Amino acid sequence: MQIVRGKKLEKASDGEFQQLVEASSRVVVDVGTGDARASYRIAKENPSWLVVGVDPAWQRMTQTSIRSRRKPAKGGVPNLLLVNSSVENAPDELLGAADELLVLMPWGKLLHGLVRGDEDIWSGLRSVAKPNAPLTATVGTSIWREPVPRDIQGLPELTRPYVDEVLSAKALACGWKVTDFQLTRAEEAAAVSSSWARRLDAASTEVIATLTAVAAGADAEGPAEAGQ
Ligand SMILES: C[S@@+](CC[C@H](N)C(=O)[O-])C[C@H]1O[C@@H](n2cnc3c(N)ncnc32)[C@H](O)[C@@H]1O
Repeated sequence: MQIVRGKKLEKASDGEFQQLVEASSRVVVDVGTGDARASYRIAKENPSWLVVGVDPAWQRMTQTSIRSRRKPAKGGVPNLLLVNSSVENAPDELLGAADELLVLMPWGKLLHGLVRGDEDIWSGLRSVAKPNAPLTATVGTSIWREPVPRDIQGLPELTRPYVDEVLSAKALACGWKVTDFQLTRAEEAAAVSSSWARRLDAASTEVIATLTAVAAGADAEGPAEAGQ
C-alpha cells in the first residue's frame, strides 16, 4: 500500500496498517478524498477512529498529510492515513477493512461509475467494506443544470426514479443494498451535525443528492437476487 507522507509517497511498512486498525474503534474509508480536508476533520473529531483517505491523485493530499504529521498540539492527527489508490484497485490491506465508507462530491471515473452503476466502481467499493458497512455518497446536482459540463453530458441524473428503477439493481448486483436517497439543499445539509456536511458552503443554493447503501453480508441479499 502506498501512503502519502508529507510530500512523499512511501510503501507502508509491514504490519503498519494492521496496527493502526487494531488501535482504532472504527475504520472509515473516504473514497476520492481529494485534498483530504474532510478526512482530516473527521479524524480530528473522532480520535479513536482510523480515517483512511483514498485517492489516485496523491499529490493533492500532500498539504493535509504535512499538517496531519505535526505534533497533536499543532494540528497533528495520527489516526489519518492517506493512501494512493483508485477504489477499483484497492490495496490488499484495505480489502474488507471499512466499517463505513464515504464518497463525497466525486468527479471523474468515480462520479461516472457511481451514478451509472458501473461494476468496477461499485465492486471496488464493496471490496473495501465489511459486511453491513454503510456507504454515504453525495453529489451536487448543479452539474446537471445548464450549462452542463461536457464531461457530464449523457450522464443520467441522480433522481429518485432513476435510483429506484435503475441504480439500485446495479448496486445490488455488486453487493450493495441502497437504503435511502435524499435531495437536500446545501444549507440544510450543512445544518446536519456531521463533519462532511459542514464542508458544504452554507450559503449555497446547491441541492445535494445523498445516496446511502449498506454492504450485503454473507447471509444478506446478494448478486443472485439482483434484478428480481
Ligand atoms: C471533487 S474531488 C474531491 C472530493 C472530496 N471528497 C471533497 O469532498 O473535497 C473528487 C476526487 O475523486 C477522485 N477520484 C476519481 N476517480 C476515482 C477512483 N476511481 N477512485 C478513487 N478516487 C477517484 C479524484 O482523483 C478527485 O480527487
